[in-house]
Amino acid sequence: MLLQILAFCIPLASAVEDVVKEGLRSDDECLDGQCALNAVQLQRALRIPPSCPPFPEPYAPPMDCGRHVQQCGVLAIDTGLGFYGGLNGSKCANSSSPTGCTDQTNPPYSQPRAKVHGLWFETPPYGNSSCLHSHDWDTACQNQSWVFTPEAYCKEQACDSAGIPQCYSVKKLPTCYQGYRGPFAAGAQGELERRYMLWFVNHEWQKHGTCGQQDPTDYFAQVCRLSGPLVRAIDSYRMQGLDNYTDVHAIACKLSKDFDYVEISSTGGSTFGTNGEILLSACLNLATGQWHVAPVSQFERLCGDPAYVRPVL
Ligand SMILES: *[C@@H]1O[C@H](CO)[C@@H](O)[C@H](O)[C@H]1NC(C)=O
Ligand SMILES: *[C@@H]1O[C@H](CO)[C@@H](O)[C@H](O)[C@H]1NC(C)=O
Ligand SMILES: *[C@@H]1O[C@H](CO)[C@@H](O)[C@H](O)[C@H]1NC(C)=O
Ligand SMILES: *[C@@H]1O[C@H](CO)[C@@H](O)[C@H](O)[C@H]1NC(C)=O
Ligand SMILES: *[C@@H]1O[C@H](CO)[C@@H](O)[C@H](O)[C@H]1NC(C)=O
Repeated sequence: MLLQILAFCIPLASAVEDVVKEGLRSDDECLDGQCALNAVQLQRALRIPPSCPPFPEPYAPPMDCGRHVQQCGVLAIDTGLGFYGGLNGSKCANSSSPTGCTDQTNPPYSQPRAKVHGLWFETPPYGNSSCLHSHDWDTACQNQSWVFTPEAYCKEQACDSAGIPQCYSVKKLPTCYQGYRGPFAAGAQGELERRYMLWFVNHEWQKHGTCGQQDPTDYFAQVCRLSGPLVRAIDSYRMQGLDNYTDVHAIACKLSKDFDYVEISSTGGSTFGTNGEILLSACLNLATGQWHVAPVSQFERLCGDPAYVRPVL
């Protein structure tokens, strides 16, 4: 019986790997629905439970950057299979909430496609990354009034000539944040979505990015470059049938198998109501200014500075 199952699973599973790799090379065609694959077969095959142990969720144990690595963290990618967040969570973990689970702090977790959330330093209690600058939030910058009533906000608070809050470090949306649930809507709704995303990107910068020594342009260029292929891979898994919130673990597992440099630090969980997020270990090489998505075991090699020795607390 066991032999029969193995004989069935192994060739099918490796054929799926090939098809998925093929899909990744021509992902634009695939994403336009023109991928001439045997969708039903693929869907069934992708649902073979992938062989990964459970990942920590929703938080990983504190991350150890390493003795000679000053800064480490996680690249946070949203599969889009979560529930709340954004202007208006489309599904609701709490159906008695009258607002449609709008939390106005997180990105929209329920989306037709995956999207990068951000790149975070694992400072205490999440890990022993250092934070090079203070990241006290500017309260004017955290005020969401600008998103909903920009004219009223700009009468009371400083805005530039384009009507953007002066306290925003990022004035233009980085490429990987250009969109909301798919491309921006037309008209006023689209403008609302754009302002929300610009607020959100500035929130990411103030809360996370400022711990580094980079400027926002460099920081977000790296966020987009590092997340791009991974976001596209997750989209291709979703297109091929891993498209339910229960699949978040399987998606994380496939991602770590298809990209040898990916180590899952934690996932947001695979149950109803969670955020559908996948967090990948990463370290920052301060000499080159480059982040690396990598297993923690590779941090010293990729990001270590012999001149830096982490003080023991
Ligand atoms: C860094 O964090 C890890 C995980 O909490 C811990 O085991 C390690 O001792 C810490 N290193 C130092 C030097 O504090
Ligand atoms: C949120 O959803 C409700 C119900 O679908 C809708 O009436 C409302 O306009 C939405 N609000 C925003 C800000 O999108
Ligand atoms: C659900 O939402 C309602 C209305 O906002 C709130 O009173 C209630 O505490 C929420 N329940 C949970 C479990 O979050
Ligand atoms: C946010 O900005 C608006 C408009 O300037 C202001 O009325 C409101 O008091 C501010 N809220 C906070 C919490 O600062
Ligand atoms: C997702 O999975 C849950 C649990 O198995 C199931 O109840 C739900 O109907 C599924 N949703 C879709 C859209 O298939």
